[in-house]
Amino acid sequence: MADFHKYSSVEIFLGGRSYDIEVCDGFLKGLRGIVFKDGFRAVVVTNDVVAPIYLEFLISQLKLSFSNVDSILLPDGEIHKSWDSLNLIYEYLLENHCDRQTVLFALGGGVVGDITGFAAATYMRGIQFVQVPTTLLAQVDSSVGGKTAINHPLGKNMIGAFHQPIKVICDLSSLQTLPKRELSSGLAEVIKYGPILDMHFFRWLECEMGELVATDRTALAYAIHRCCEIKASIVSQDEKESGLRAILNFGHTFGHAIEAGMGYGVWLHGEGVAAGMVMAAELSRRLGMVDEAFVKRLTKLIERAGLPTKGPVLDAADNAGRYLELMRVDKKSEGGEIRFVLIDGPGKAVLRAAPDALVREVIDACCA
Ligand code: NAD
Ligand code: GLY
Repeated sequence: MADFHKYSSVEIFLGGRSYDIEVCDGFLKGLRGIVFKDGFRAVVVTNDVVAPIYLEFLISQLKLSFSNVDSILLPDGEIHKSWDSLNLIYEYLLENHCDRQTVLFALGGGVVGDITGFAAATYMRGIQFVQVPTTLLAQVDSSVGGKTAINHPLGKNMIGAFHQPIKVICDLSSLQTLPKRELSSGLAEVIKYGPILDMHFFRWLECEMGELVATDRTALAYAIHRCCEIKASIVSQDEKESGLRAILNFGHTFGHAIEAGMGYGVWLHGEGVAAGMVMAAELSRRLGMVDEAFVKRLTKLIERAGLPTKGPVLDAADNAGRYLELMRVDKKSEGGEIRFVLIDGPGKAVLRAAPDALVREVIDACCA
C-alpha cells in the first residue's frame, strides 16, 4: 500500500454507457478526457454548505471547456432529498431554456448526487450528468453505478431511476474539509465491501483504520480505489439489480428503517448502515452462517471507525414491530416478505428471508 499511487482510474463497463471513475487531486485532472461539442452548457448543482468551499473553483475549471457555466443551489441535508429540491432543478432548467445539450455536474455528497442524477434521468427524458462527489460516502458508493432517487416520507429512495453518469471525479483533497462524523459515515460503506466480497480488503481495513480516520491521503486513495473497483465490477455484471447488485445493500435493510424511523437526517446514512451491518451479521450468526468471532470482528472495526454498533429504539412500546413495519417498505421485499443481505461465511453475501420471530430477537439484542 505504501507504494500505492494516489491517483487512479477505474472503468465501469456498460457497453456504450461505460465511463471512468477518476480518483485525483483537483477537479481539473478529473475533467481531462471528457470532450464536449461546442454549444454544450454546464450547470452545476450543489448545496449551500458545499458551494462556499468548492463552487467557484469548479466553475473556473469548467469555464476552460464550456462557454456557458451556471449553478443551482439546493438546501443542505437528507431532509431535502425531496420532490421540492428536484423541482428547484426542473424550474431552473426550464426557466433558463436548457436543452439536451446541457450537462449537469453534481457537486456534493450523496444527497446532491442522487437528486441531480434523478433530474438528469428525467429532464427532457434524459440528459448527461457528471458526478463530482465531495464526501467519502459518495466517492466510494453513491456516485458510482447510476442509482438516482429522492426520498418519500413513507420510504427511503423509493422514487428514482437508473441513469449512469458520463464520468465520476473523486477529488481526494475535498475530503480534508469533511466533518469527522461525515467521514465516519462514509467509512461504513467502505467497511461493507469486506464482508460481502473481499476479506483481504477487510484485513487491510483492520490494519489501516487509524490512518483512514486521520484522513491519511494515501490510505484514503487506496480505499476509494478498491471500493470503486469492487462496485464497478458488480455494477458491470448487474446494472439494474436483478440479482448480484443487491449484496451492496448489506446493512441497509435495517439501516433504512433506522433513517426513516428516526426522521431523515437524524441518523446519517452510514450510521444506520453501520448498526444495520451488526444486526445483519447477528442475524446471519443466528441462522448458522457465520460464527460469533466474525460478528465481534466486524463490530470492533465499525466501532473503530467512530460508528454506532447498536440501533436506536424506534418505538418503546413495540420496537421490533416498528422495525419490521418499516423494513417491509424496501425495494428488496417481495410480496411483503423482507429479504436481507446476509453473510454466508466471511466474504460471501446472499439475499435471504428470515422468520419474523428471529428478526425480532436480533432487533431486541442489537438496539440500545
Ligand atoms: P450528504 O450528501 O448529506 O453530505 C453530508 C454532509 O456533508 C452534507 O451536509 C454536505 O453538504 C456536507 N459536505 C459534502 N461535501 C463536503 C465537503 N467536502 N466538506 C464539507 N462538507 C461537505 O450525505 P452523504 O453521506 O454524502 O450521502 C448520503 C446519501 O447518499 C443518502 O441519501 C443515501 O441514501 C445516498 N446513497 C446513495 C447511493 C446510490 O447508490 N445512489 C449509495 C449510498 C448512499
Ligand atoms: N449502494 C447500493 C447500490 O449502488 O447498489
